[in-house]
Order: sequence, then C-alpha cells, then structure tokens
Amino acid sequence: MSKIAVIGTGYVGLTTSIGLASLGHEVIGYDLDPAKVEMLQAGKLPIHEPGLGEILIAGIKSGNLQSTSDLSEAVADADFVFTCVPTPQDDDGSADLSYVISASVAMKDLLKPGAIVVTKSTVPVGSAQVVENAIGRSDIEVASNPEFLREGAAVHDFKHPDRIVVGARSTEISQKVMDLYSQIDCPKLLTSQETAELIKYASNSFLAIKLSYVNDVAVLSEAVGADPFEVLQGMGLDTRIGNRFLEPGPGWGGSCFPKDTKALESIAKSFGVDLPLITAAIASNEISHKRVADRLAKALGGSLNGKTIAVLGLTFKANTDDTRESPAIAVIEHLIKGGGEVVAYDPMVSSYDLAGLTVAPSPVAAANGADALVVLTEWSEFSEIDCAEMLAAMTGSVVIDTRNVLNKSLWQSAGATFPSSETKRVV
Ligand code: UDX
Repeated sequence: MSKIAVIGTGYVGLTTSIGLASLGHEVIGYDLDPAKVEMLQAGKLPIHEPGLGEILIAGIKSGNLQSTSDLSEAVADADFVFTCVPTPQDDDGSADLSYVISASVAMKDLLKPGAIVVTKSTVPVGSAQVVENAIGRSDIEVASNPEFLREGAAVHDFKHPDRIVVGARSTEISQKVMDLYSQIDCPKLLTSQETAELIKYASNSFLAIKLSYVNDVAVLSEAVGADPFEVLQGMGLDTRIGNRFLEPGPGWGGSCFPKDTKALESIAKSFGVDLPLITAAIASNEISHKRVADRLAKALGGSLNGKTIAVLGLTFKANTDDTRESPAIAVIEHLIKGGGEVVAYDPMVSSYDLAGLTVAPSPVAAANGADALVVLTEWSEFSEIDCAEMLAAMTGSVVIDTRNVLNKSLWQSAGATFPSSETKRVV
C-alpha cells in the first residue's frame, strides 16, 4: 500500500482521496481552507455526493484517511501526490492553469525524492511539461491520470470505471501509478502524457456533441410529429450508437462539458487545427436553452411578459447539489429576459442569487399562482409529485417537461396542457 497526498478537496479531490483510501492506501487530503478540513476530519462532506459520506467515515475509522491544511504535512512523506485543483475557464475559453502551477510551486521543495506528481485536474495538452517546469526537480516524475467520474455517480465510477488512463514519460512511471488501482478490474491504458491529457477532452467533447445532436433530433422529431423518445430509443438499439447518453433535455451543462468543449476548441486553435463540430455543438447547446423559453412563450400566447412560471429543478442534473453551468439556470435566464417571474423548487437548492428568480421550499409552493410549469432537472422525486395538487395551485395549466420525468397521461387527465411543438412544413 502506498502513501498518497491529494491536493484539493473539490468533487474530484474528495472522490480521489476517499476512493484511494478505500483501496487501502494511506491517504492525506490537503485543502488550504481550514474550515473545510475541519469538516472532513469530523466526517462531514462539504458537497452532496451519494455514497461518498459512508466511505469517508470508513476511511477515517480505518486510519487510512486524514485531512490537513498544512501542505508540508500532506506531501512530505508521500510517494504520490495527486493534484486535483480547479482549472477554470479563462476569458478566451482556454483552461487557466494558475492553480495547477501555484500548487506545483508550493510543493516543489516539500516533495520527497522520487515522488510522483499525478495530475488529475483536466489540463490542456502539454501541461505535464508546465508542471515539470514549475517543480523543476530532476528527481520528481510527473504523470497524468485524467478523471472520468460523473457527479452523482462518482463513487460508482471510482469503483467501476470504464477505463483508467495513466500517461507519463515512461511506462515504468505510468505503471507505478496504475498499480495504485490494482484492485480495480477494468481496461487500463498506459500512454504518453499528451495522449492521456487529450483522451479526457476528446471524450467529454464527444459526449457533448452526442447530446447536442440528441437535442437537435428531439426538436426535429416534435416538428415532424414523431415521438422524440421513441426515435432516440430506436437509434440507441443500434449497438454502434448505444443506448446510453441519449436522453434529450434543456441542454447539457455542469462543471465539465461547457468548460472542456471550449478548452478543446482553444487547444485546437493553438495548434492551428479547425474543429467545426465542437463549435457547432456549443452553439446548438446555447440554442437549446432558448428553445425552451420560446416554446413556453408560444404556449402562453406569444409572450412571457408578466407571467409567473413555476420551475422544477435548478441543478445541472439530478443527484447533485451543483448548479455550475446548469442548463436549468440558462433556461431561467431566458424566461426572465422574456419578462417572466420564476419561482423554482429543487430538492438540493434552497437559494440562488438571480433577479427574477425565487426559490420555493416545495413543488406546490413553486406552483402557487403560476401560469405554467417547466421541469428542467430529472429528479426522480418529481415523478411522484401530486399532479392534481400542483394544478389546483396553479392559475394556468401549461406544462413543459424537458426531462420526460412526469407521467404525461396522468397529468393530462388532471387537466395539464402539454404544448405540442409541431410545426408546419415550411416548403
Ligand atoms: C461529465 C462526464 O460524464 C464525466 O465522465 C467527466 O469526467 C465529467 O463530466 P458530469 O458533468 O458529472 O460528468 O455529468 P454527466 O452525467 O456527464 O452530464 C452532463 C450534462 O449532460 C448534464 O447537464 C446532464 O443533464 C446532461 N445529459 C446527460 C443529458 O442531457 N442527457 C443524457 O443522456 C446524459
């Protein structure tokens, strides 16, 4: 078993440190925020992630998992140091490496000889060299081990990944990192640093392109009078297409796809390569937010002005408390821009700072006096909501379910009107 330090306690850092401790390694997580560290030491998670709290407590009890806000305590004894710091989007869409660089500089004199620094943060191609330069020590190796975990399913994804990728300057180094995961049974890929770095961006961008296409197909299906879910189900039965990641919605969002697609565009540009598909997928996604608002305006007689709109869901998807780059928020911004007042309910969000948006404590409180209801996140509990009670609280009856979570026929029999977006053939 190895001694591991994990720098950063965001989604990726927490899952990495807690996950590696559950494999039996001696892990010490570092965060510069002492309040966060105290929380973790007390066995409390600063984020909502199903199943992670249980293995956090198990890690603390077994003595395999510690947390500290003292960097030298974290790294001094570590054979491996995982950097899991944010790589936010810069003004030009590129990934901002300043946290990665400052973490590397801060630890460079603290690392023990022979330690391997492993980058988990999503970093542009060529970043391994940047980290090597920032550390500037010939006795320290640098590897890239991109993270593919999904929020809301992070524990499952850590234990049962589709693959693990490690890139380093030599197979010997990447194998040492890969050995940390010896208990995990999945395809394991040893690559160069550049390849590992690009696999992450290329995978996330492919998924984003797929979803943009799914959303475009859903709109076309409705326009021609086809059932979008049946169309997508029919497509997904082709094993070359696959039936996962085929759910239409109000657009894709979250902490990865929006940032990573723009970063890939920027990486390609910096190498003089054109990636028109990525650019189109980003544009299609922006249109999909506005489409929901336009569809509602049409259903409400042509305008949202002065209308009260109840919204179910604020997080970027279900089973997370994360509203970063949430398509729900992007849609709500369009609703407000059109003159609407939005009252939203989300099981994990109790407040959100946006003029024109109020967060209600329950679905019925959100529905009270509303002209229409829009579902923007696929929380399964929304399928259990009492439709008669909701419709009785509303003044209008228009319902748009962008995530297909409501039982449409039940709602219709309770008086809901689901606007059809069937359009006339233009030519
Ligand atoms: C994603 C990648 O899946 C993960 O591998 C990567 O490492 C980080 O980014 P995450 O951002 O947690 O994970 O969410 P994901 O489940 O991929 O969903 C992203 C967005 O796509 C969400 O807004 C979600 O609602 C949307 N989505 C996903 C759909 O609209 N339809 C689908 O079928 C799947």
